Amino acid sequence: MILDLINICKKGGEIIKDNFDKKLDVNKKSTIDLVTDVDYFVEKVVKEELNKQFPSIEIIAEESALDNIEKEKPVFYLDPIDGTTNFVHGFPFVAVSLAYYVKNSAEIGMVYNPIMEELFTAEKSKGAFLNGKAIKVSSTGKMINSLIGTGFPYSIVESENNEIIIQRLRNILENSRGVRRAGSAALDLCYTAKGVFDGYYESGLNPWDVAAGKIILEEAGGCVSSLGGGEYDFSESWIVGSNGLIHDALINKINIS
Ligand code: IPD
Ligand code: CA
Ligand code: CA
Ligand code: CA
Repeated sequence: MILDLINICKKGGEIIKDNFDKKLDVNKKSTIDLVTDVDYFVEKVVKEELNKQFPSIEIIAEESALDNIEKEKPVFYLDPIDGTTNFVHGFPFVAVSLAYYVKNSAEIGMVYNPIMEELFTAEKSKGAFLNGKAIKVSSTGKMINSLIGTGFPYSIVESENNEIIIQRLRNILENSRGVRRAGSAALDLCYTAKGVFDGYYESGLNPWDVAAGKIILEEAGGCVSSLGGGEYDFSESWIVGSNGLIHDALINKINIS
């Protein structure tokens, strides 16, 4: 199954690559939340292929998400372009994110950046790979030596109460080597899996943003949890991922009292 999914994912990636420097039809879902004709087209093509090859498996995809899908059944989570803002501005951190879950548990995850030609893959209990080579998390043991990835919800420009996000960011900035906001939650998790980031945290994400990256990070030896340190499920508002070694310290620094 994984090879078929990789081929499907690459088909979506080719469309992103072909349109990367082209003029786009850009619309707004809200003030800074963008969507392009390419997001819709990639989603359409990938869904058609999935439906053709796996007709009995439901698909939860960003641009056509339905609320009434029974998630106990096998399901694909698809983000056709994770990093739409990057895509619109020509910043090459964009990816197709595809995951296969059974009974709320990840079986397969893949994140494909066609611009940087990086394909991250993972299968349950089989490890994580970048372009076929095994990857693992960093060995950084101290928060102050760590590079942390993060992101912010689009609603930040409309909300009057962003204090918690700013305070948490400030606390991480003051207690780490640096913070990066690269603009793709799926790739942020993969870059933690690859050992580039030592940790990552964000709030307000959807299942299609993190479903694939979560299994890739876990299979690379990392840790993914809620802000309380317990199992992360898609209903949690905050996600924390790390190399495992700095996990408690990261949670501790995010959780300001
Ligand atoms: C977004 C990206 C971004 C994150 C946003 C997401 P999209 O997804 O993952 O890094 O900070 O919250 O919504 O809209 O580009 O698919
Ligand atoms: Ca996304
Ligand atoms: Ca998207
Ligand atoms: Ca989006």
